[in-house]
Amino acid sequence: MTGSREDVAVTTSIRAALRAAVAHAVLAPSEHNTQPWRWRLHGEVLDLRADRTRRLPSTDEEGRSVLLGCGCALQHLQVALAAAGYRAEIRRGNDGDPEHPLARIRIRPGPEPDVRTTRWLAAMWTRRTDRRRFSGQEVGPDAVDRLADAARVYGGTVHLAVGAVRRLVLDAAHEADLLQRERVDYAAELQHWTHRLAGARDGIPASSRPGTPAAAYGDMEMRWMPPGTLAHPRVGPGVRDCSQLLLVSAPSDDTVSLVRAGEALGAVLLEAECLGLGVTPFAHPFEVPEVRDRVGHLAVGAHRVPTIALRIGWRLTGAATIPATPRRRVDEVLTEED
Ligand SMILES: Cc1cc2nc3c(=O)[nH]c(=O)nc-3n(C[C@H](O)[C@H](O)[C@H](O)COP(=O)(O)O)c2cc1C
Repeated sequence: MTGSREDVAVTTSIRAALRAAVAHAVLAPSEHNTQPWRWRLHGEVLDLRADRTRRLPSTDEEGRSVLLGCGCALQHLQVALAAAGYRAEIRRGNDGDPEHPLARIRIRPGPEPDVRTTRWLAAMWTRRTDRRRFSGQEVGPDAVDRLADAARVYGGTVHLAVGAVRRLVLDAAHEADLLQRERVDYAAELQHWTHRLAGARDGIPASSRPGTPAAAYGDMEMRWMPPGTLAHPRVGPGVRDCSQLLLVSAPSDDTVSLVRAGEALGAVLLEAECLGLGVTPFAHPFEVPEVRDRVGHLAVGAHRVPTIALRIGWRLTGAATIPATPRRRVDEVLTEED
């Protein structure tokens, strides 16, 4: 049965809106820029699935970062839809069968976009992971509250780790980094994703990695990455990097909770960009199960699980704009059916 001309026009415009939103969703961050998502547009419905062929088997053994990355993409999609005047109705699933993708999205006409939506839409294009040193000025409570509010929009929780909790997570990061780097397959994976061939549309290019091999700022040690070509801004004598540590937690480890944590992460990163903060996400303290199990509840409380840590700080004056990391084309990640 064919629909009326009006029905066809509605379907065409809904599909165009969903397609345009996917073009924004692909700007989302993902571990090693693997972009582990697949979209399917059928009728007036859009499905999001994890592309587990792009999981990092050695780094992300349990596929948690795949789900966080998909959550970030889903959050970006919602912002793009809201900016275009649509409200998304999302049914979340465990991705176990064709009827239960990670997210099944239908859209309806929504309100005029609010100021935050417009700011977040713009931030998608300028946000970058920043692995350089940050300034000596601490990120104050107002900015941390703004990040926490952003997470709450998606039902998420962030914790500022200070004192003994900060030490605990940083020690866990150090231990996890050593354990991961002992493994030959981990090193090969890192090498693969940081040395992509010219023209590749994924991975972490040299222009996103600082040129000095040191991965430590003050007491914060980041995941080790091969040095790249990104210059550090100059710092005055005696200026100490005052990066702070933020943790994004989830109520449990199940698929839906991790995708929701990813949505909160996406919002925190966009709000950080709006505030002018630099952020380095690092998931490794929670990727090694024995390390996560030992420190997790001490870091975020007995009834939550940590998902990812964020080093946050104010960018130094004179910090150059970091080039964008590449993304696969929309037609590589979106399948369209009638
Ligand atoms: C779940 C997740 C885990 C990540 N883990 C790390 C990490 O351990 N170290 C790091 O430097 N960047 C990490 N990143 C940042 C990605 O490498 C980055 O998002 C990706 O390369 C794309 O670059 P962009 O954020 O500048 O767009 C992570 C991002 C996500 C979403």
